[in-house]
Amino acid sequence: MERIEELKEKINYDFETVIHLEELNELKVKYLGKKGLISELNTTIKDLPKEEKKNFGQAMNEVKVLFQEKYLSLKAKLEEEKIKEKLESERIDITLPSTKVRRGSKHPMSLAIEEIEDLFVSMGYDVVSGPELESDEYCFERLNLPKGHPARDMQDSFYITKDYLLRTQTSSVQARYMMEKQGKEPIRIIVPGKTYRREDDATHAPQFSQIEGLVIDKKENHVSLADLKGTLEVFARHMLGSNLDLRFRPSYFPFTEPSYEVDVTCFKCHGKGCNLCKQTGWIEVFAAGMVHPNVLRMNGYDPEVWGGFAFGPGWDRITMFRYGIPDIRLMYQNDIRFLQEFDRKDGE
Ligand code: DAH
Repeated sequence: MERIEELKEKINYDFETVIHLEELNELKVKYLGKKGLISELNTTIKDLPKEEKKNFGQAMNEVKVLFQEKYLSLKAKLEEEKIKEKLESERIDITLPSTKVRRGSKHPMSLAIEEIEDLFVSMGYDVVSGPELESDEYCFERLNLPKGHPARDMQDSFYITKDYLLRTQTSSVQARYMMEKQGKEPIRIIVPGKTYRREDDATHAPQFSQIEGLVIDKKENHVSLADLKGTLEVFARHMLGSNLDLRFRPSYFPFTEPSYEVDVTCFKCHGKGCNLCKQTGWIEVFAAGMVHPNVLRMNGYDPEVWGGFAFGPGWDRITMFRYGIPDIRLMYQNDIRFLQEFDRKDGE
């Protein structure tokens, strides 16, 4: 019985010293484990005289109950404390200043096309798009480039099947849009979009972008070369410099007649001659012309009744000139440092 009293005292003492849940678990092992103090003392019952066994058994039971009660109540208390501690340590102070969230910036090509679209929409144009995987028919045949036409060699193409390819020019959408309007409505559209050719150097990427323009109206409304010139002048001056001039050089495209390559005054040296314009004072920006009667006819517009002009600058090229970007490949590498150059720096 004395040993039982001692054990009780020990239990009381031990519980006083417990601070953490882990220690409490250790206590459980220490007393109730297979070789624990309570279990050990329990085994001595077999050596007692019969008459003492009952009392001893009862007393041992009380010890066990005492232990269990203390254990459970302390466990509850410690667990509650642990939760409180956790809540306290994870508390969010909403009065602290926020960490700065870095916002992305628009790609220079997006910035450029937004300006160009605004400009053309203000002149009554619609902005339309067409498929990048295009049929030979729309990319070439309906643009007066039948199979075997030598001018096809100017556009080294990625064919997917015999009849389908990644479009080499946004001009394909000229044919698509004319067919859609069935020769009934005047047309005034720009078509910004991706194009693909087998080329790769500082000024050519296998994937590049163009902005097609197409205007068709009744002949009685006299859409003329002067309108084409005026339109390209507005375009170039808006994007590249307000006082530059245009120079039309005769050229050849199967879908226009007459056709032109259009230069603008070098915006770096203002026509004096520099490395950018290769000392000529001019930089080529547009390809353009009056829509060929065959193209009108093939796509449902009677060339006796309708006429118009088309143009097709490189979207990448205009963006490079606009922002002074030296290499076309920079625009497709997705280097965040390059894009940050065009950040509007909002709020910084
Ligand atoms: N599609 C031509 C090319 O990629 C460019 C072009 C020339 C577009 C004359 C036109 C145009 O709309 O009228 O080389």
